[in-house]
Amino acid sequence: MNTVTILGSGRVGKALATAWALSGRDVVIGTQDPARLRSTWTGPDVVILDIHQAVGSSDLVVNATPGDTSLERFTALEEELAGTVLVDVSNATTRGTDGLPGGLVHTGTSLGELLQAALPRTDVVKTLNTMLFSAMTAPADLGSDPTVFLSGDNGAAKARVRELLTDLGWDEAWMLDLGGIATARGVEAMALLVPSLLATLGFTPFALSIAR
Ligand SMILES: NC(=O)c1ccc[n+]([C@@H]2O[C@H](COP(=O)([O-])OP(=O)(O)OC[C@H]3O[C@@H](n4cnc5c(N)ncnc54)[C@H](OP(=O)(O)O)[C@@H]3O)[C@@H](O)[C@H]2O)c1
Repeated sequence: MNTVTILGSGRVGKALATAWALSGRDVVIGTQDPARLRSTWTGPDVVILDIHQAVGSSDLVVNATPGDTSLERFTALEEELAGTVLVDVSNATTRGTDGLPGGLVHTGTSLGELLQAALPRTDVVKTLNTMLFSAMTAPADLGSDPTVFLSGDNGAAKARVRELLTDLGWDEAWMLDLGGIATARGVEAMALLVPSLLATLGFTPFALSIAR
């Protein structure tokens, strides 16, 4: 129960792996090339495995891989993911000419909903996708209180994700449970703000926040 598996070792995967390991979690990173990652990893102690071994090593799996191809990738892992909580932090966007999100891949629905439909034995929870990766693990460093949204059909799964968020430094008051996985549709559309936010603010940590 203390182990969290993260698939993908890019900016998000590395940041989450480092923060959770430092918080006392046992962290497994599932990567396409374990030898390469082992030889370059400079963070705290983590276990680095191939994707299939990594999925089999815990019942909490985080999707930190490209969102546009996540549906195919995770559908292929349906059997191995049965009984797990899948924490989906990805954004399924097309790339604009600047390489930044240009549009949504799954219009009229969301990746979260499609993953849940494809993985009926897995509890999908969408979270953390509405901020820059640097804010995911240092929310208290932002200049004002941020919001982290949770979308998912299973309350117990969301309670486990809340614990993971707490480990990253998220205050309970900043967590906003939007309801079922269908609410991922709204938060996923927020990815379309990213290019203009980066253009306006620069590459500074940011997170969306709901003032109330
Ligand atoms: N960057 C942000 O600020 C941010 C914020 C919110 C949400 N997100 C979302 O978080 C996810 C990860 O973002 P990122 O910025 O970390 O991306 P990234 O730096 O491009 O890293 C993605 C990682 O996924 C793995 N990967 C790439 N192609 C793959 C494939 N075909 N099959 C399996 N694994 C593959 C790679 O890790 P391995 O080589 O180890 O396999 C790669 O390093 C994306 O869905 C993104 O939309 C990002």
